[in-house]
Amino acid sequence: MRIVDDPKDLSAPDLCGCGFVPTMGALHEGHGSLVRRASADGRPIVVSIFVNPTQFGPSEDYARYPRTLDSDCALLEPLGVAAVFVPSVEAIYPRGLEAARTEAAATQLPEVATRPQLEDACRPTHFGGVALVVGRLFDLVRPGRAYFGEKDYQQLRLIEDMVAADRGRYGSLEIVPCPTIRERDGLAMSSRNRYLAPEHRDAALALSRALQIAHSAQRVATAERLMRDTLDAHGLETEYAVVRDARTLMPVTGFERPTRALIAVRLGSTRLIDNAQMTVWR
Ligand code: PAF
Repeated sequence: MRIVDDPKDLSAPDLCGCGFVPTMGALHEGHGSLVRRASADGRPIVVSIFVNPTQFGPSEDYARYPRTLDSDCALLEPLGVAAVFVPSVEAIYPRGLEAARTEAAATQLPEVATRPQLEDACRPTHFGGVALVVGRLFDLVRPGRAYFGEKDYQQLRLIEDMVAADRGRYGSLEIVPCPTIRERDGLAMSSRNRYLAPEHRDAALALSRALQIAHSAQRVATAERLMRDTLDAHGLETEYAVVRDARTLMPVTGFERPTRALIAVRLGSTRLIDNAQMTVWR
């Protein structure tokens, strides 16, 4: 496994048409499962580790986001990864960070990232930064397939639509969704879980419990009430707990389409999200 920081080294013939797993590091078993999924496809695997400044809002945790390169490499090495791409901010944003922030804010995003009033409303600059960096990483790595976790379901839908809308740029790149990996007690794995104070760890379980309880509901309104009640009972500050059309992320208008329950809460200074497929109707 080699560590690559110069984008030029990504054009090595042995990385051609690779399976690509973009990450911000602080890797855990959720990332491990993306790499294992990629490995099952038999392509050389490239993992990127880049804490992307343009997807963090001014009051968010960019500075304190965990940077753990040594343990990240230790997790990746046994998984048969060909290269870990660890670019500098200058390599990704050669025109400087201010210009990149301006570009992120002006990026034309698919509707799925601007209309639903979910993450797009709570973190207004986030998806512009995600789209900018993921497009840039795809341009540099030129993968045949890229793997994204359903844990960040709205991000996954954004990337799918972004790639589908610009085949001229992304060619035949395939986006492969991968299931959320959970701790034994149900907590969805996330790099931000390490911020959770021990007294908050139990309350954080309310997210997966809320999704589980809502799963028995047959109607959107019931599922949403059950989720809110569960989150309230654990003293969480709910930003949203909704059931939406799984493709457009807009409110459900019928019962012919798959739906997705999506939750965002605040717990102390940590923000947690989770989601699950549902079978409910309006
Ligand atoms: O999901 C993440 O870790 C990040 O948003 C991504 C896709 C690597 C872009 O920075």
